[in-house]
Amino acid sequence: MLFVCKGCGKKYRLKTDAAPANLDRLRCRQCGEGVRQVKETNAGELFFFDRDKALHGFAMDNIIVFSNQKGGVAKTTTCLNLGLSLALLKKKVLLIDFDGQANLSLSLGYQDRNSFFEIVDTRVKDFSSHIIATRYTGLYLLPSNMNMALLNKRYLSRQFFEFLLRDRLNQLGESFDYILIDTPPSIEFFTMNALTAAQMAIIPCQCEFLATHGVTKIKKLIEQIQAKTNPGLTFRILITMFDANETASQVVYEKLQQLYPGKLFTTLIGRDSKIKEAQILSLPAIVYDRESTAARQHILLAKEILDSMPTALSSEQNTDKQSPIIAG
Ligand SMILES: Nc1ncnc2c1ncn2[C@@H]1O[C@H](COP(=O)(O)OP(=O)(O)OP(=O)(O)O)[C@@H](O)[C@H]1O
Ligand SMILES: [Mg+2]
Repeated sequence: MLFVCKGCGKKYRLKTDAAPANLDRLRCRQCGEGVRQVKETNAGELFFFDRDKALHGFAMDNIIVFSNQKGGVAKTTTCLNLGLSLALLKKKVLLIDFDGQANLSLSLGYQDRNSFFEIVDTRVKDFSSHIIATRYTGLYLLPSNMNMALLNKRYLSRQFFEFLLRDRLNQLGESFDYILIDTPPSIEFFTMNALTAAQMAIIPCQCEFLATHGVTKIKKLIEQIQAKTNPGLTFRILITMFDANETASQVVYEKLQQLYPGKLFTTLIGRDSKIKEAQILSLPAIVYDRESTAARQHILLAKEILDSMPTALSSEQNTDKQSPIIAG
Protein backbone atom coordinates (compact mmCIF):
# COMPACT_ATOMS: atom_id res chain seq x y z
CA MET A 1 0.00 0.00 0.00
CA LEU A 2 1.47 3.35 -1.04
CA PHE A 3 1.43 6.52 1.03
CA VAL A 4 2.70 9.95 0.09
CA CYS A 5 3.73 12.73 2.45
CA LYS A 6 1.48 15.79 2.20
CA GLY A 7 4.45 17.99 3.00
CA CYS A 8 7.44 16.88 0.95
CA GLY A 9 5.94 14.26 -1.37
CA LYS A 10 8.15 11.42 -0.10
CA LYS A 11 6.61 8.04 -0.77
CA TYR A 12 6.28 5.16 1.71
CA ARG A 13 5.24 1.61 1.02
CA LEU A 14 3.61 -0.35 3.85
CA LYS A 15 3.38 -4.12 3.66
CA THR A 16 -0.32 -4.38 4.43
CA ASP A 17 -3.54 -4.23 2.48
CA ALA A 18 -5.57 -2.89 5.37
CA ALA A 19 -5.36 0.88 5.86
CA PRO A 20 -3.82 1.53 9.27
CA ALA A 21 -6.49 2.59 11.74
CA ASN A 22 -4.26 5.38 12.99
CA LEU A 23 -3.50 6.79 9.53
CA ASP A 24 -4.13 10.31 10.79
CA ARG A 25 -1.26 9.90 13.19
CA LEU A 26 1.31 8.66 10.66
CA ARG A 27 4.04 11.21 10.12
CA CYS A 28 6.71 11.55 7.43
CA ARG A 29 10.18 10.64 8.74
CA GLN A 30 11.70 13.33 6.54
CA CYS A 31 9.62 16.42 7.31
CA GLY A 32 7.11 15.45 10.00
CA GLU A 33 3.97 16.17 7.90
CA GLY A 34 0.98 13.80 7.67
CA VAL A 35 0.62 11.26 4.87
CA ARG A 36 -2.20 10.21 2.60
CA GLN A 37 -2.81 6.97 0.77
CA VAL A 38 -2.46 6.99 -3.01
CA LYS A 39 -3.83 4.48 -5.42
CA GLU A 40 -1.17 2.42 -7.12
CA THR A 41 -1.64 2.67 -10.85
CA ASN A 42 1.03 0.20 -11.89
CA ALA A 43 0.34 0.99 -15.52
CA GLY A 44 3.89 0.75 -16.71
CA GLU A 45 6.36 3.44 -17.65
CA LEU A 46 5.36 7.03 -18.22
CA PHE A 47 5.61 8.29 -21.76
CA PHE A 48 8.36 10.87 -22.42
CA PHE A 49 9.35 12.37 -25.75
CA ASP A 50 12.96 12.56 -24.56
CA ARG A 51 13.37 11.08 -21.11
CA ASP A 52 17.11 11.64 -20.85
CA LYS A 53 16.79 15.32 -21.67
CA ALA A 54 13.88 15.71 -19.26
CA LEU A 55 15.77 14.03 -16.45
CA HIS A 56 19.05 15.85 -16.90
CA GLY A 57 18.51 19.39 -18.11
CA PHE A 58 16.53 22.63 -17.86
CA ALA A 59 13.65 22.97 -20.27
CA MET A 60 14.76 26.57 -20.87
CA ASP A 61 15.91 29.58 -18.90
CA ASN A 62 13.44 31.93 -17.29
CA ILE A 63 10.81 29.55 -16.05
CA ILE A 64 9.36 30.90 -12.81
CA VAL A 65 7.04 29.01 -10.47
CA PHE A 66 4.85 30.61 -7.80
CA SER A 67 4.72 28.30 -4.85
CA ASN A 68 3.66 28.32 -1.22
CA GLN A 69 1.77 25.60 0.61
CA LYS A 70 -0.11 28.33 2.41
CA GLY A 71 -3.30 29.23 0.56
CA GLY A 72 -4.44 32.73 -0.34
CA VAL A 73 -1.02 34.39 -0.31
CA ALA A 74 -1.43 35.85 -3.85
CA LYS A 75 0.29 33.17 -5.97
CA THR A 76 -2.32 33.46 -8.72
CA THR A 77 -2.69 37.24 -8.45
CA THR A 78 1.07 37.74 -8.76
CA CYS A 79 1.40 35.25 -11.63
CA LEU A 80 -1.26 37.12 -13.61
CA ASN A 81 -0.15 40.68 -12.90
CA LEU A 82 3.57 39.99 -13.18
CA GLY A 83 2.96 38.12 -16.44
CA LEU A 84 1.07 41.04 -17.90
CA SER A 85 3.69 43.51 -16.64
CA LEU A 86 6.43 41.56 -18.42
CA ALA A 87 4.28 41.50 -21.55
CA LEU A 88 3.83 45.28 -21.30
CA LEU A 89 7.62 45.52 -21.16
CA LYS A 90 7.62 43.79 -24.56
CA LYS A 91 8.40 40.28 -23.39
CA LYS A 92 6.63 37.23 -24.71
CA VAL A 93 5.13 35.46 -21.73
CA LEU A 94 3.41 32.10 -21.27
CA LEU A 95 1.29 31.62 -18.15
CA ILE A 96 0.69 28.00 -17.16
CA ASP A 97 -2.31 27.36 -14.94
CA PHE A 98 -1.06 24.34 -13.04
CA ASP A 99 -3.80 24.35 -10.42
CA GLY A 100 -7.03 22.35 -10.69
CA GLN A 101 -8.88 25.30 -9.12
CA ALA A 102 -8.25 27.05 -12.48
CA ASN A 103 -8.31 30.49 -10.85
CA LEU A 104 -5.73 31.87 -13.25
CA SER A 105 -7.70 30.72 -16.31
CA LEU A 106 -10.93 32.11 -14.87
CA SER A 107 -9.23 35.43 -14.08
CA LEU A 108 -8.48 35.73 -17.79
CA GLY A 109 -12.00 34.65 -18.74
CA TYR A 110 -11.27 31.08 -19.91
CA GLN A 111 -13.12 27.97 -18.79
CA ASP A 112 -13.16 24.31 -19.85
CA ARG A 113 -10.32 24.66 -22.37
CA ASN A 114 -7.62 22.08 -23.02
CA SER A 115 -5.06 21.84 -20.26
CA PHE A 116 -1.82 20.06 -19.43
CA PHE A 117 -3.92 16.97 -18.75
CA GLU A 118 -4.98 16.71 -22.41
CA ILE A 119 -1.38 17.33 -23.52
CA VAL A 120 -0.17 14.36 -21.48
CA ASP A 121 -3.20 12.18 -22.08
CA THR A 122 -3.09 12.41 -25.87
CA ARG A 123 0.72 12.38 -26.07
CA VAL A 124 0.61 15.38 -28.35
CA LYS A 125 4.10 16.60 -29.15
CA ASP A 126 3.19 19.96 -30.65
CA PHE A 127 0.76 21.35 -28.11
CA SER A 128 0.76 24.89 -29.44
CA SER A 129 -2.91 24.56 -30.37
CA HIS A 130 -3.66 24.15 -26.64
CA ILE A 131 -2.03 27.51 -25.87
CA ILE A 132 -4.32 30.51 -26.02
CA ALA A 133 -3.20 33.93 -27.22
CA THR A 134 -5.02 36.13 -24.70
CA ARG A 135 -6.47 39.50 -25.63
CA TYR A 136 -3.32 41.10 -24.16
CA THR A 137 -0.40 41.46 -26.56
CA GLY A 138 2.49 39.20 -25.62
CA LEU A 139 0.53 37.23 -23.01
CA TYR A 140 -0.33 33.56 -23.61
CA LEU A 141 -2.06 30.98 -21.45
CA LEU A 142 -2.04 27.22 -21.06
CA PRO A 143 -5.31 26.85 -19.12
CA SER A 144 -6.38 24.43 -16.42
CA ASN A 145 -9.61 22.47 -16.32
CA MET A 146 -11.39 19.91 -14.17
CA ASN A 147 -9.45 16.99 -15.70
CA MET A 148 -6.26 18.25 -14.09
CA ALA A 149 -7.21 16.44 -10.87
CA LEU A 150 -6.71 13.16 -12.76
CA LEU A 151 -3.00 13.85 -13.15
CA ASN A 152 -2.55 13.51 -9.41
CA LYS A 153 -4.55 10.30 -9.30
CA ARG A 154 -2.98 8.63 -12.33
CA TYR A 155 0.64 9.63 -12.15
CA LEU A 156 1.70 10.55 -8.62
CA SER A 157 2.85 7.05 -7.76
CA ARG A 158 4.78 6.47 -11.01
CA GLN A 159 8.50 6.67 -11.41
CA PHE A 160 9.80 9.97 -12.89
CA PHE A 161 6.38 11.65 -12.69
CA GLU A 162 8.13 14.88 -11.58
CA PHE A 163 9.68 15.29 -15.05
CA LEU A 164 6.53 15.27 -17.19
CA LEU A 165 6.16 19.06 -17.37
CA ARG A 166 9.85 19.59 -18.13
CA ASP A 167 9.65 17.03 -20.94
CA ARG A 168 6.66 18.78 -22.53
CA LEU A 169 8.22 22.24 -22.14
CA ASN A 170 11.29 20.90 -23.92
CA GLN A 171 9.04 20.42 -26.96
CA LEU A 172 8.19 24.14 -26.94
CA GLY A 173 11.79 25.18 -27.55
CA GLU A 174 12.64 28.83 -27.05
CA SER A 175 9.24 30.21 -28.00
CA PHE A 176 8.78 32.44 -24.95
CA ASP A 177 10.93 34.88 -23.01
CA TYR A 178 9.35 33.91 -19.70
CA ILE A 179 7.14 31.05 -18.57
CA LEU A 180 5.26 31.65 -15.30
CA ILE A 181 3.62 28.69 -13.55
CA ASP A 182 0.84 29.03 -10.99
CA THR A 183 0.56 26.13 -8.52
CA PRO A 184 -1.96 25.03 -5.88
CA PRO A 185 -1.44 25.35 -2.12
CA SER A 186 -0.45 21.70 -1.85
CA ILE A 187 2.49 19.58 -2.93
CA GLU A 188 1.96 16.39 -4.97
CA PHE A 189 1.96 16.21 -8.78
CA PHE A 190 1.65 19.89 -9.69
CA THR A 191 4.09 21.54 -7.34
CA MET A 192 6.68 18.78 -7.75
CA ASN A 193 6.52 19.02 -11.56
CA ALA A 194 6.59 22.82 -11.58
CA LEU A 195 9.54 23.04 -9.17
CA THR A 196 11.38 20.45 -11.25
CA ALA A 197 10.86 22.42 -14.47
CA ALA A 198 11.62 25.89 -13.11
CA GLN A 199 14.74 27.94 -12.80
CA MET A 200 13.38 30.12 -10.00
CA ALA A 201 10.65 29.69 -7.39
CA ILE A 202 8.96 32.85 -6.18
CA ILE A 203 7.46 32.36 -2.73
CA PRO A 204 4.67 34.90 -2.22
CA CYS A 205 4.38 35.60 1.48
CA GLN A 206 2.05 37.71 3.58
CA CYS A 207 3.61 39.45 6.57
CA GLU A 208 1.46 37.82 9.19
CA PHE A 209 1.45 35.19 11.93
CA LEU A 210 3.17 31.93 10.87
CA ALA A 211 4.55 33.46 7.64
CA THR A 212 8.10 32.44 8.54
CA HIS A 213 6.89 28.91 9.29
CA GLY A 214 5.33 28.70 5.80
CA VAL A 215 8.55 29.90 4.15
CA THR A 216 10.61 27.39 6.13
CA LYS A 217 8.35 24.60 4.87
CA ILE A 218 8.55 25.52 1.21
CA LYS A 219 12.31 26.16 1.50
CA LYS A 220 12.72 22.62 2.84
CA LEU A 221 10.79 21.27 -0.14
CA ILE A 222 12.94 23.33 -2.53
CA GLU A 223 16.06 21.84 -0.97
CA GLN A 224 14.67 18.35 -1.54
CA ILE A 225 13.88 19.19 -5.16
CA GLN A 226 17.40 20.60 -5.59
CA ALA A 227 18.84 17.35 -4.26
CA LYS A 228 16.55 15.08 -6.23
CA THR A 229 15.33 16.52 -9.51
CA ASN A 230 16.49 20.11 -10.11
CA PRO A 231 19.90 21.18 -8.73
CA GLY A 232 19.72 24.58 -10.47
CA LEU A 233 16.53 25.75 -8.76
CA THR A 234 16.81 29.07 -6.89
CA PHE A 235 14.21 30.90 -4.83
CA ARG A 236 13.18 34.46 -3.89
CA ILE A 237 10.56 35.66 -1.44
CA LEU A 238 7.96 38.21 -2.49
CA ILE A 239 6.08 40.11 0.20
CA THR A 240 2.42 40.48 -0.76
CA MET A 241 -0.52 42.40 0.72
CA PHE A 242 1.92 44.45 2.79
CA ASP A 243 0.42 47.12 5.04
CA ALA A 244 2.99 49.70 6.10
CA ASN A 245 0.64 50.97 8.82
CA GLU A 246 0.48 47.60 10.54
CA THR A 247 3.14 46.93 13.16
CA ALA A 248 2.78 43.17 12.60
CA SER A 249 3.58 43.61 8.89
CA GLN A 250 6.76 45.56 9.74
CA VAL A 251 7.89 43.08 12.38
CA VAL A 252 7.40 40.01 10.17
CA TYR A 253 9.06 41.78 7.23
CA GLU A 254 12.17 42.53 9.31
CA LYS A 255 12.22 38.97 10.62
CA LEU A 256 12.11 37.56 7.07
CA GLN A 257 14.94 39.88 6.03
CA GLN A 258 17.04 38.61 8.92
CA LEU A 259 16.26 34.96 8.22
CA TYR A 260 16.72 35.12 4.44
CA PRO A 261 19.27 37.87 3.65
CA GLY A 262 19.38 38.76 -0.04
CA LYS A 263 16.40 36.54 -0.82
CA LEU A 264 13.58 39.12 -0.60
CA PHE A 265 12.58 41.16 -3.63
CA THR A 266 13.12 44.88 -3.05
CA THR A 267 9.65 45.49 -4.45
CA LEU A 268 6.85 45.01 -1.93
CA ILE A 269 3.31 44.38 -3.11
CA GLY A 270 0.96 46.34 -0.86
CA ARG A 271 -2.63 45.57 -0.02
CA ASP A 272 -4.75 47.31 -2.66
CA SER A 273 -8.52 47.05 -3.00
CA LYS A 274 -8.18 47.56 -6.78
CA ILE A 275 -7.00 43.95 -7.03
CA LYS A 276 -10.28 42.59 -5.72
CA GLU A 277 -12.33 45.07 -7.79
CA ALA A 278 -10.42 44.01 -10.91
CA GLN A 279 -11.02 40.33 -10.16
CA ILE A 280 -14.78 40.81 -10.09
CA LEU A 281 -14.55 42.06 -13.68
CA SER A 282 -12.13 39.24 -14.72
CA LEU A 283 -9.45 41.83 -15.37
CA PRO A 284 -5.83 42.01 -14.27
CA ALA A 285 -5.36 44.94 -11.85
CA ILE A 286 -2.97 46.52 -14.34
CA VAL A 287 -5.70 46.71 -16.96
CA TYR A 288 -8.42 47.74 -14.51
CA ASP A 289 -6.46 50.73 -13.22
CA ARG A 290 -3.07 51.36 -14.79
CA GLU A 291 -2.28 54.07 -12.22
CA SER A 292 -3.17 52.00 -9.16
CA THR A 293 -0.55 51.15 -6.55
CA ALA A 294 -0.91 47.45 -7.43
CA ALA A 295 -0.24 48.15 -11.13
CA ARG A 296 2.83 50.27 -10.42
CA GLN A 297 4.25 47.75 -7.96
CA HIS A 298 3.85 44.83 -10.36
CA ILE A 299 5.64 46.79 -13.10
CA LEU A 300 8.46 47.48 -10.63
CA LEU A 301 8.58 43.78 -9.79
CA ALA A 302 8.76 42.93 -13.51
CA LYS A 303 11.72 45.30 -13.89
CA GLU A 304 13.43 43.65 -10.94
CA ILE A 305 12.91 40.27 -12.60
CA LEU A 306 14.27 41.57 -15.90
CA ASP A 307 17.41 42.74 -14.09
CA SER A 308 17.96 39.45 -12.29
CA MET A 309 16.84 37.11 -15.09
CA PRO A 310 17.59 38.88 -18.37
CA THR A 311 16.52 37.24 -21.59
CA ALA A 312 19.14 36.36 -24.16
CA LEU A 313 17.61 38.55 -26.86
CA SER A 314 16.58 42.20 -26.84
CA SER A 315 12.85 42.93 -26.90
CA GLU A 316 13.03 44.07 -30.55
CA GLN A 317 14.53 40.75 -31.53
CA ASN A 318 11.97 38.93 -29.48
CA THR A 319 9.12 40.29 -31.52
CA ASP A 320 10.54 38.18 -34.35
CA LYS A 321 10.32 35.00 -32.34
CA GLN A 322 8.44 32.40 -34.21
CA SER A 323 5.09 32.01 -32.51
CA PRO A 324 3.81 28.45 -32.14
CA ILE A 325 0.43 29.79 -31.13
CA ILE A 326 -3.00 29.38 -32.61
CA ALA A 327 -5.21 32.08 -31.15
CA GLY A 328 -8.15 30.77 -29.14
N1 LIG B 1 -2.16 42.99 -3.13
C1 LIG B 1 -3.39 42.59 -2.80
N2 LIG B 1 -4.26 43.43 -2.21
C2 LIG B 1 -5.50 43.04 -1.86
N3 LIG B 1 -5.98 41.82 -2.07
C3 LIG B 1 -5.18 40.92 -2.66
C4 LIG B 1 -3.85 41.26 -3.06
N4 LIG B 1 -3.28 40.16 -3.63
C5 LIG B 1 -4.21 39.19 -3.59
N5 LIG B 1 -5.35 39.64 -3.01
C6 LIG B 1 -6.57 38.86 -2.76
O1 LIG B 1 -6.24 37.76 -1.93
C7 LIG B 1 -6.99 36.61 -2.29
C8 LIG B 1 -6.05 35.43 -2.53
O2 LIG B 1 -5.27 35.71 -3.68
P1 LIG B 1 -4.84 34.56 -4.68
O3 LIG B 1 -6.02 33.80 -5.15
O4 LIG B 1 -3.96 35.18 -5.69
O5 LIG B 1 -3.98 33.65 -3.69
P2 LIG B 1 -3.39 32.20 -3.98
O6 LIG B 1 -2.15 32.09 -3.18
O7 LIG B 1 -3.29 31.96 -5.42
O8 LIG B 1 -4.53 31.27 -3.37
P3 LIG B 1 -4.62 29.66 -3.50
O9 LIG B 1 -3.59 29.14 -2.55
O10 LIG B 1 -6.02 29.33 -3.09
O11 LIG B 1 -4.33 29.30 -4.92
C9 LIG B 1 -7.81 36.98 -3.51
O12 LIG B 1 -9.12 37.28 -3.11
C10 LIG B 1 -7.13 38.23 -4.02
O13 LIG B 1 -8.03 39.12 -4.62
MG1 LIG C 1 -4.11 30.39 -6.59
